[in-house]
Formats: sequence, C-alpha cells, structure tokens
Amino acid sequence: MHIHSRIADLRGALAGRGRIVFVPTMGNLHAGHVSLVKQAKRHGSPVVASIFVNPLQFGAGEDFERYPRTLSADSEKLAAAGCDIVFAPDVAEMYPLPQTFTVQVADNLANDLCGAFRPGHFSGVATVVLKLFNLVQPRVAVFGKKDFQQLRVIQDLVNQFNLPIDIVGVDTLREADGLAMSSRNGYLSEAERMQAPQLQRELAAIAAAVRAGERDFAALATTARRHLAMAGWRVDYIELRDAATLQAPTVDSRHMVVLGAARLGKTRLIDNIEIALGNPL
Ligand code: PAF
Repeated sequence: MHIHSRIADLRGALAGRGRIVFVPTMGNLHAGHVSLVKQAKRHGSPVVASIFVNPLQFGAGEDFERYPRTLSADSEKLAAAGCDIVFAPDVAEMYPLPQTFTVQVADNLANDLCGAFRPGHFSGVATVVLKLFNLVQPRVAVFGKKDFQQLRVIQDLVNQFNLPIDIVGVDTLREADGLAMSSRNGYLSEAERMQAPQLQRELAAIAAAVRAGERDFAALATTARRHLAMAGWRVDYIELRDAATLQAPTVDSRHMVVLGAARLGKTRLIDNIEIALGNPL
C-alpha cells in the first residue's frame, strides 16, 4: 500500500489505473471504515482511501482541533483491509488558498436535520468531497449509511453535477450493545459509553412501532425525546423521514428512515434505522 500526501504524487500513482474505487474518511478508523474498504474491493481496483480532517465542515466550537489524528494506526488498518493507495494530505495541500468557491447545498437539505444544528456543515462536506472526487477520479465511491443525510447530499452532488461516479451506501456497523460505530465514540467517558446505546434503542422502538402500523410519528418522536432527556441527553432531533427524499413521509412512503442526533456530555452522536414496509431491510 502506498501513502501519498501530495496531490501531484497521488495523480502520478493513479494515472491510467483501472476502475478506481474511493473511500473518503477523516481517519481515526474503526471496524466500520474497514467494512467500507472491504465493500469497496468488491466494486473494482485499485481501492483508494483518503484521510483528511476537513476544516470546512466543522463549525466554531466543534471538535476540529481535538478530532484524533492517528495516521500510522489508520494506515495499518487500511493495509490489512486490502486498500491499495492512501491519500493523506494536510490542510495546506487541500486548501493552498482560502476556498472561496464552495458547493451550495439545496436549502431544504443543508438546513434540515443535522444541518439545522451544524450550519455550513454539508456545504463543507460537499465541497471537500467534490475536490477529492476531482483528485481521485473514482468510478465508484463508498460511504457509510450512519451519516444518512451526508449520503443523500453526496448522491445529489453526483446527480446535479453529472459526475460519472456510482455511490455505494454501506450499512452501519454496530458494537455488541447496538451502539453505531463512530470515531466520536472515543470521546465518551465510561459512564457515557454505557448509556450511549440508548439512542439506538429509542430509534429501534420507533422503527418497530412504525412496522407494526403506528402512524402517529410525532407522538413516537416525542416519547423518544422524553426518554432521552430524562436520561440526561440533550436531543437535537428525532425525526421520521422518507428514505429517498428525506422529507416527511407520505402515506405512500414504503421506505422510511428514523434519524436521531443527541448529545451526551460534550459528545454529539447520530444514528438512524431504515424501515422498509412489507420488505424488511
Ligand atoms: O464522513 C466523513 O468521514 C466525512 O464527512 C467525509 C465524507 C470524509 C468528508 O470529509
């Protein structure tokens, strides 16, 4: 496996290479990322992973500075997973000048759900992903479904700008107690870690009720919010949406997703569960 920190070297290494499959990451990798690489290998070769903590997608007061940078451990995990090339630039390489041209994400997506609590976040994500796509020029790119709204943004980015890239979404990997794997789980204290699977349990309870025919979505969300608040969480949102549009589900919605974001102490966790009516996912 080769690691490049310079754009020119990456381009040199990728020139004329076959069907490039790309896994963008911010590093601090866990088994969920490894599953993305394994999935990527099914779609072509070479597999390229990027490791870049993108300042554009962090707001003031968020965790950009403390986000763990663990390049050597990450490289070992990527090599073991069968990754061929790693692109790990620094900020000056990606943004030699202030990034004055950015991707403007549609308001209804940019300012909804996580976007309502993280202004500018999805524009920052779409901008860096577009830059990375231009550098790596993949035929396929693989993203985790834990960031369900991010996946929607990337799918729209590719469609709106006619990028010749297939986007593959990969199911969330969970710890034995149900907690979605996330680099940010490492911020949790021991007590918070014990409590953290509650977010997934509340979402699972809503999903089960919807599968059983319950349609008072607002009441389900209110109950989940109350349970979480009583246990000390600060809830950003609990929402049920149509999985394709991320808008409120209609009576015709057969594929939905219940999404949640909530804070335990200083750590903000997100999770979601898809609901396919009449066709269990
Ligand atoms: O999901 C992530 O790790 C990041 O948002 C991404 C897609 C690598 C862009 O920085």
